Amino acid sequence: QSAASSKIPSQSATPPISVVGIGNKVAKPDYSEAKIVVATVGLPARGKSYLSNKLMRYLKWLEYDVKVFNVGQLRRSRARQRALTSGQRESHTAEYFSHSNEEATRLRDKLAEDSLDMLIQWLKDGGNVGIHDATNSTHNRRDKIQQRVAREKGFTVIFLESICDDPEIIAANVALKVSSGDPDYKDMSPEEAKTDFLRRIRAYEAVYETITEPGISYLKIINVGDRVVMNHIRGYLQSRIAFYLMNLHLKPRSIFMSRHGESQYNVEGKIGGDALLSVHGQTYAEALPGLIKNNIGDAPLTVWTSTLQRTIQSAQYLPYPKLTWKSLDELDAGVCDGMTYEEIEKQYPEDFANRDEDKFNYRYRGGESYRDVVVRLEPVIMELERQENILIIGHQAILRCLYAYFHNFKQADLPYIKIPLHTVIKLTPKAYGCDEERYTLPIAAVDTHRPKPKAPAPKPLREATPMTSRRHYYAEEETEEVAPLE
Ligand code: F6P
Ligand code: PEP
Repeated sequence: QSAASSKIPSQSATPPISVVGIGNKVAKPDYSEAKIVVATVGLPARGKSYLSNKLMRYLKWLEYDVKVFNVGQLRRSRARQRALTSGQRESHTAEYFSHSNEEATRLRDKLAEDSLDMLIQWLKDGGNVGIHDATNSTHNRRDKIQQRVAREKGFTVIFLESICDDPEIIAANVALKVSSGDPDYKDMSPEEAKTDFLRRIRAYEAVYETITEPGISYLKIINVGDRVVMNHIRGYLQSRIAFYLMNLHLKPRSIFMSRHGESQYNVEGKIGGDALLSVHGQTYAEALPGLIKNNIGDAPLTVWTSTLQRTIQSAQYLPYPKLTWKSLDELDAGVCDGMTYEEIEKQYPEDFANRDEDKFNYRYRGGESYRDVVVRLEPVIMELERQENILIIGHQAILRCLYAYFHNFKQADLPYIKIPLHTVIKLTPKAYGCDEERYTLPIAAVDTHRPKPKAPAPKPLREATPMTSRRHYYAEEETEEVAPLE
C-alpha cells in the first residue's frame, strides 16, 4: 500500500479530547466539535456504499455519531411517494442516468443537493460524520458540495473516491446489485437488470471526471485498498478515517473467535486473575485444532491470544503461527479482580448497582470500563481489517467488544452479548455485514454470562435482524432499505 502524502499523527484511537468522569461513571467522550461531510465519488459498482457502511460501523463503534445519506435511496423513496399520489410507477432505467436526459439530470442534481441539505441539518443537530453516498462524479457536483459545506462554520468535507479497475471486483459488485433484490431492478429479470445496470455504468462513464481539483481534501481508494492517494488530509478525525480506509481489503477470509477453555477461576465463579485451565478447559484446548482444521482445511491462519495463561494454554496445540497481544487481555476489574459477583455485591454494593445500571460506562475502581476496552481494542480492529484468516482466543468482555464491531451492536447492548465458553464463532465478512456460524463443542463448561438484572422489558439485542438469522447486516435500523452497492 502506498500513500501520496501521509499525515497520520498517531495510531492510537484515543482522540485528543477530554473524557470527563464522575466517580466511577465515565461520561461519553465529547465529540461535539467534529463535523465532517464525507462525500463519495465514483462510478456505479465501485463499492462506494460498501466503504460508506464500513466507515460508519467503525466510527460508530468508536462512539462518533455517523449517518449515511444515500442519494439512490432518497430518489427511490420520493418516487414511491409520487407514485402514491399519481398512481403511476416511475422507472429509473439507464436513460434516467444519461447526461443527455436534461430533465432527469436536473432532478438527480436536485436530489443530491437535498440529500446534502438533510445531511448538514443532521450535523447541526449534533451528528459528527455525515456520509453523502452518491456518484458525485463531476467537478461541477463537487464544486457545489464544497460551496454548500463552506457556508457552515467549522464544517469540513472530504471526498472519498473509489476507483476500481479490477474486472473481478466490478463483476462481483454488478452481480450483487442485480441479484440482491435491489429495488431499482425488482421488476426485471436478472439478465435484463444486468444489461440495464451496465448501460447505467456507461452513461456515468461518459461524464465521469476523476478528482483532479488541487485544493480539496480527498482520498482516492484504488481497488479497495491496493493503493491509496491522499490530499490535504488534516486533523485527527480526518486522519483516522484515512488510516482506516487504507487498511481495508476485499479478499475472502474468516475471523474465528473463541474464549479460552474453561478456567479454574470460571469454575469458582471468580472474575479476572490469571488462572490456568480446568480439566474441561484442557479438553477444549485439545479438541480445538480438529475443529479449526475441519473448517479451513489447509488454508493459512494466524492465532492471536492475550498475554494471560488461559488463552495461551488454550492455543497450545494449534499448529499455526501465534501472536500474543496485551490489548487482548481481559477487562481489568481493578480492586474486584479475583472476586465473585456475590463478593463484589457485598463489599462494593454501590459499585455493583452502578455497573448494572450502565455496564458499558462503569469503570471498576483501579480498573477499566467496556468503553476503555473498546479504545484499547481499536488497533486490534485495524490489524484485523488488514489480515486474512485469524483465530482470536480471547475473553468474555474482549470478544463482546470485537463482536459488536462486526455486527454493529449498540454500546448499551454490547456488555450483554452472549459469548459462551467452548464455542467457536466464525465470522465471514460479506458485502453488507458478516455471515456467522457457531460451533459448540460437547465439552461441559460453566455459564459465566450474568444477564442484566430486572430488565424492565425484554429487548432484543439488535433490532435490525432476528438473532436466529445467520446473516447479520449492519444497515441502520432507521434506513428503509440496505444501501445498494453503487
Ligand atoms: O467471568 C469471566 C470473565 O472473563 C471475567 O474475567 C471478566 O471480569 C468477566 O468475564 C467480564 O464479563 P462481565 O463484564 O459480564 O462481568
Ligand atoms: C442514484 O440516484 O442512485 C445516485 C447514486 O445518484 P447520483 O448519481 O445522482 O449521485
